[in-house]
Amino acid sequence: MVSRVIPVDPFDLVIFGGTGDLAQRKILPALFRRFCAGQWSDTTRIIAVARSPHGADGFRQIVAGSLQDLGHSRDTATLTEFLSRIDYVHLDAHSNDGWHALSDRVQEDRVRAFYFSVGPELFAPLAERIQANGLVNAKTRIVVEKPFGHDLSSAKDLNAILAARFDESQIYRIDHYLGKETVQNLMAVRFGNMLFEPLWNSQYVDHIQITVAETVGIDGREEYYEHAGAMRDMVQNHLMQLLCLIAMEPPAKFDPDAVRDEKLKVIRALDSVEPHHIVRGQFSAGPLGPSYREVVGNPRSTTESYVALRAHVSNWRWAGTPFYLRTGKRLVARSSVINVMFKDAPHSIFGEEAGRHANVLSIRLQPNEGITLRVTIKEPGPGGMRLVDVPLDMSFADALGPENQDPPGAYERLIMDVIRGNQTLFMRGDEVEAAWAWTDPIIAGWQSRGDVPKPYDSGSTGPGDAELLMKRDGRRWQGIKP
Ligand code: BG6
Repeated sequence: MVSRVIPVDPFDLVIFGGTGDLAQRKILPALFRRFCAGQWSDTTRIIAVARSPHGADGFRQIVAGSLQDLGHSRDTATLTEFLSRIDYVHLDAHSNDGWHALSDRVQEDRVRAFYFSVGPELFAPLAERIQANGLVNAKTRIVVEKPFGHDLSSAKDLNAILAARFDESQIYRIDHYLGKETVQNLMAVRFGNMLFEPLWNSQYVDHIQITVAETVGIDGREEYYEHAGAMRDMVQNHLMQLLCLIAMEPPAKFDPDAVRDEKLKVIRALDSVEPHHIVRGQFSAGPLGPSYREVVGNPRSTTESYVALRAHVSNWRWAGTPFYLRTGKRLVARSSVINVMFKDAPHSIFGEEAGRHANVLSIRLQPNEGITLRVTIKEPGPGGMRLVDVPLDMSFADALGPENQDPPGAYERLIMDVIRGNQTLFMRGDEVEAAWAWTDPIIAGWQSRGDVPKPYDSGSTGPGDAELLMKRDGRRWQGIKP
């Protein structure tokens, strides 16, 4: 099975912050891969914009260097062809300098996407000048990155800034988790199979565990992370999106508003989290390196690099089924997995001595993407009926064949969706605000109580209190395995 490449119409993609880290590490490499896959037409252009006066050739050299550093090597002809599609304009977001040059570069009658790969303080001046320079038309799209605000009030401000100049249908808020192949597979597994849906509720599901464990630390992003912490950096967005996809009702169609309406209902149905149902952690020195405080150079930092919490979706389907979420940096392994823990069979016909094993459906998002269903069978051999659970294991790579080992990355898919005008995998303004409305009181509670995160060794599975969170409920986390 070979994944199909469906060409997109010609477009102009303007990247504000073209020399920045995100543009160089994610956006331009993603565009390069789509270019190599043959998804663009001949007249497509990338116009990078930044303050420094590099000139187009200087900027192309920077891009070539970044692609090489990231291992995106191709033959020289392909690289030269890709670079020839890139132009560069230097301009100032706060004055009109350079805007005429930008207006001259973009063409009429084609998709014109403006990627705000810049800090949120530039959203307002950029939005204003895009409009003032007559760059908004029916095919204009605005792409913005997370973090979308740092609390509800700042997210509302950003939404208002964008809404003053653009229609919601033109705004693409990126959460790159939604662009991951396997995250979309969550929807395919749930809504493409009859098998799971009848069991997908509190009658059959005991609880759900969502783990996004990382081995990376925060090196190079100290300043941002000190003000964000795991709650703002990961839980409010990526984990919240995973929770939504697992918990939402089947949308009537796989279209932007049908899907986003259902996700919004989940966020709005979340109960507030009790302080004793949440654990904050901060990594200390360990096998993976120095402590968080050493890394940020702040011996008194109380920023969390780990969060575990118990959430409740108060609706008909999920009343009584807790969702346990955890994420952390510098953990023992990189592993994002969702475990749906089914209830025990109501009665064992084999007697308690045979043992009981509840079914577990594990959806591995990364790495080693795939699904495992643990099922109970008879332990082989004589001597009566003893039960044992074994995995029905499927790795997507094996099942789909070697030609699918390297599917388009999240940014590749999302940027192409922007060009196609498909907002299904982007967050709507009300969704982002609802997520902050749930997150804000948790952070405010920590601040008012002067909460200090629990230390955990770098390279471990997180603070011991996270185990207790489960243990108190008579449950335990599944292991964090690569
Ligand atoms: C980003 C966070 O949004 O997601 C990072 O800011 C985190 O802190 C990253 O490391 C994780 O993304 P991925 O794709 O590596 O799982």
